[in-house]
Amino acid sequence: MKLLSYILFGSSLALAKQTYNETFSQTAVYYSEAAFCEGEDLEDWKCGDACKKEPGVTKLFRIKDASNEGVFGFVAYNEVQDLIIVSFRGSQNTANWISNFDYFQEPYKGSETMMVHTGFFSDYELVSPQVISAVSTLIQEHPTARMLFTGHSLGAALTTFAAVDVMEQLSPKNEMLFYSFGSPRTGNQAFSDHIMTLYPDYFRVVHYTDIVPHLPMTEFGFNHAGTEVWYTEPMFSLDHVFCQNVIGTPENENCADTLWSYDPAAHMQYVGINLNYNWCNGTPRGFLEE
Ligand SMILES: *[C@@H]1O[C@H](CO)[C@@H](O)[C@H](O)[C@H]1NC(C)=O
Repeated sequence: MKLLSYILFGSSLALAKQTYNETFSQTAVYYSEAAFCEGEDLEDWKCGDACKKEPGVTKLFRIKDASNEGVFGFVAYNEVQDLIIVSFRGSQNTANWISNFDYFQEPYKGSETMMVHTGFFSDYELVSPQVISAVSTLIQEHPTARMLFTGHSLGAALTTFAAVDVMEQLSPKNEMLFYSFGSPRTGNQAFSDHIMTLYPDYFRVVHYTDIVPHLPMTEFGFNHAGTEVWYTEPMFSLDHVFCQNVIGTPENENCADTLWSYDPAAHMQYVGINLNYNWCNGTPRGFLEE
């Protein structure tokens, strides 16, 4: 009800029109997981259970850079769903990734107000031309398809930069869907405002006490964007509440920000889906492993 009233009566809020679709959110989780399969087989939509969950991908561009193996994603088209997908892989070793977290910021593309996380942004910049080229091809072929940006963890940060970049460079007329899972903060409040201006319907899913969305901390000038969809219970419960962020105001602290805990488990369960399971090859994938 609270979310609805924000959507209907919120003043400075860009006009949000989509409602959160949990079934579609699970689809987005599977696309996020598919990005963990980086082999050439992915081009034929062979990536184990992740691909089997979402059949119908007919064209796929792998997005990677030889200088940084940590960056991998894909841009694809699913003809059954009439959906263009941009998805980035999370970190392979989450515990190691968190322990190496830094807080450096740099101006976003020369902006005087927008600051972004240097590491995430420079990772994305390596592959920006590939993303723009692949998306450009697919929106020309499928001008009325919907487009989804998604990713988990580091993948959520990278897909955020991709989403903003695509809108800035290509201004697609397609209906845009943006669902991220366990995203770290990517920039300052001015950058959050920019994200929300371009994507009034950004759903930023956070599970319970997942540590990653608390990083980098607000004390270092970082701020979250979008409608936070906060799953309020441990494990696989689907109970959730919404916290709408609003352009021009600091991060809404009424959802995950009310709890602080280093909980490795919560990062590995999203929308009722077990991410300790490697959806590409069926092996266990721990928070500490791989
Ligand atoms: C929610 O998403 C699912 C899966 O994409 C779709 O089948 C369903 O029609 C959607 N529901 C609404 C209300 O849009």
